[in-house]
Amino acid sequence: MLRRLHGHEVLAASPNSGVNTITGEGVKEAVAGAQVVIDLANSPSFEDKVVLEFFETAGRNLLPAEAAAGVRHHVALSIVAIDRTDNGYFRAKLAQEKLIEGSGVPYTIIRATQFMEFLRGIADSSADGNTVKLPPILFQPIAADDVAAIVADVALAAPRGGIVEIAGPERAPFNEIVARYLKAVGDPRQVVSDPGAGYWGGRVEERSLVPLGEVRLGHIGLDEWLRRSQAKA
Ligand SMILES: NC(=O)c1ccc[n+]([C@@H]2O[C@H](COP(=O)([O-])OP(=O)(O)OC[C@H]3O[C@@H](n4cnc5c(N)ncnc54)[C@H](OP(=O)(O)O)[C@@H]3O)[C@@H](O)[C@H]2O)c1
Repeated sequence: MLRRLHGHEVLAASPNSGVNTITGEGVKEAVAGAQVVIDLANSPSFEDKVVLEFFETAGRNLLPAEAAAGVRHHVALSIVAIDRTDNGYFRAKLAQEKLIEGSGVPYTIIRATQFMEFLRGIADSSADGNTVKLPPILFQPIAADDVAAIVADVALAAPRGGIVEIAGPERAPFNEIVARYLKAVGDPRQVVSDPGAGYWGGRVEERSLVPLGEVRLGHIGLDEWLRRSQAKA
């Protein structure tokens, strides 16, 4: 259903509303007449082969439909450091970016750091019983509200034909941030700093997950995000 937001007509499209970038269902109809398409879809599984197939199939269905419809700006949400850190999910995001770059549709790729909303998923994926093992590398998560505001802003600007990097306002050791999060939500699991622990199976070093160059920062720090999340609960 089309909604009017800040003077723009917006269609939120996903399988729940009959638009599926994997089967192609509803894609042509959804992009018809659109000036901008923002791709925020994610694979239901993070298993290496499945996630690669997800982003490649979605790109092959969505981008030609956009080109045919005369879409003037494709915006996609990607991840900081996917070309510096190796794991199956990051390889799939790189494949998504390559398809966008070769599509002929004017584009901007927004590479974000990990969302604060993903901290629980990270803790779960690094947990062994009551212990969460994380490397003491730098981490700079961003709140989804900040991501949404920046994505909307970028979508309304001219296509960059390149990458914009975004991150949260605070940079701190990975293990410390996840420990602060677990304590705040009353999760009894203990975080252990383990220099040998990777990230989703890939080797990481001090600056493997943080932006190295120009970066646009969000405003919501971890404490503020925790306050907001607890107020919503
Ligand atoms: N999470 C992070 O920390 C992070 C960091 C940087 C970048 N990103 C990127 O940001 C994007 C969104 O991530 P997220 O964590 O917000 O994902 P998410 O919460 O899992 O949301 C995924 C969305 O994708 C939609 N979707 C799933 N299958 C689809 C399909 N076949 N066709 C169309 N839409 C489909 C879902 O639709 P329904 O609602 O209908 O199920 C849902 O709205 C991803 O591209 C991810 O790589 C994430």
